[in-house]
Amino acid sequence: MIKSQIASYFRKYYSESFKVIKSPGRVNIIGEHTDYNLGFVLPASIEKAIYFAVNLNNSDEINIETFLTSPEKITFKLEGQHNSFDSFWGNYFKAILEILRERNYPLKGFDCVFGGDIPIGSGLSSSAALCCGFIYALSVVLEKEIPRKEIALIAQGAEHKIGLNCGLMDQYAVLFGKKGNALFLDCKDLSYKYVPINLKGYSWVLINSNIKHNLAVDSEYNKRRASCETVATEVSKKKDNVSSLREVTPQDLEDVKNQVAKLDFTRANYVIQENERVLKMIELLNKGEAELVGKVLLEGHWAMSKEFEITTTELDCLVRIGMEIDAVHGSRMMGGGFGGCTINLINTDSVDESVNIILSKYRKETGILAEVYQLQIGDGVHILE
Ligand code: GLA
Repeated sequence: MIKSQIASYFRKYYSESFKVIKSPGRVNIIGEHTDYNLGFVLPASIEKAIYFAVNLNNSDEINIETFLTSPEKITFKLEGQHNSFDSFWGNYFKAILEILRERNYPLKGFDCVFGGDIPIGSGLSSSAALCCGFIYALSVVLEKEIPRKEIALIAQGAEHKIGLNCGLMDQYAVLFGKKGNALFLDCKDLSYKYVPINLKGYSWVLINSNIKHNLAVDSEYNKRRASCETVATEVSKKKDNVSSLREVTPQDLEDVKNQVAKLDFTRANYVIQENERVLKMIELLNKGEAELVGKVLLEGHWAMSKEFEITTTELDCLVRIGMEIDAVHGSRMMGGGFGGCTINLINTDSVDESVNIILSKYRKETGILAEVYQLQIGDGVHILE
């Protein structure tokens, strides 16, 4: 629906000829705040996506129009300096164009219309979909291939310019995702493998707490990263070849306990344990051990809540209510934190009933209407025929 709306709008107001690019959001089965610590993550690209219609316009302007939130149009001059924009997406595109210019990518004028159905600020990586999709669309329209790894790095660079010191999990999920699979990514060397996540008789369900976050503005995200880096630096004074928490063992951490603040110690400990949970999760998924998969999800959630302190009372409430239901085997908050969705593993034949109970109890406790999405894993960024 959104795809055809974008296409017909482009046809009506811009030109008959254009390409449409689909850029998906992502979920994360487990591995939160491990990416910038060069650890392990297990995300997947989803069917919810942002669609871009693009075509060259033989001018020195880049016209971009969107219906993503409210209708809006921004024109960028190819060689120009740009102020900041009110719209969040304008600032991402501005950052991307600056990076491309710094790297001497030959830009040309083009028209772009985009929109999509990824809820913004809900832990489904709308910003990675936006940035990776835009860079990919640009490469298509300019007929200049930009390798996917390079797209990921440019998109990450844009996030850093905006103020979020994120890792590469989201960009890799959006660019390298594959239908039906999660992406087991080693953030140290960026190697990856696909892991099927279907468990017979069980469904993955997303519940949006409808508490929206803005990670770049709420710099709590960056504070977590700073804590982790402080601890890694402290360990590196005692042990060779330590540049991140990836090289830090539980014993190494214990050895610097008196040299680091308690808060930083607790946060680093969370990351080391979370890497272990990713490995454990892959083993359990391979064996089809759904009950234990659920247990690991829960462990991850409560560690994020009590130790890493990135959940909210609403997200904790969703998880707690879920666990009162027999058919719900596990539940955890997903993404950077401070709002967004939980991912839940539920008996397929009890999904509707379970979800109804969760939504109504959640409404009673918080006054908020949560939303439910069945998880559908689609392919990474691609051109639509
Ligand atoms: C955000 C960031 C990612 C990652 C997650 C937490 O989505 O963009 O790089 O750190 O949070 O796992």
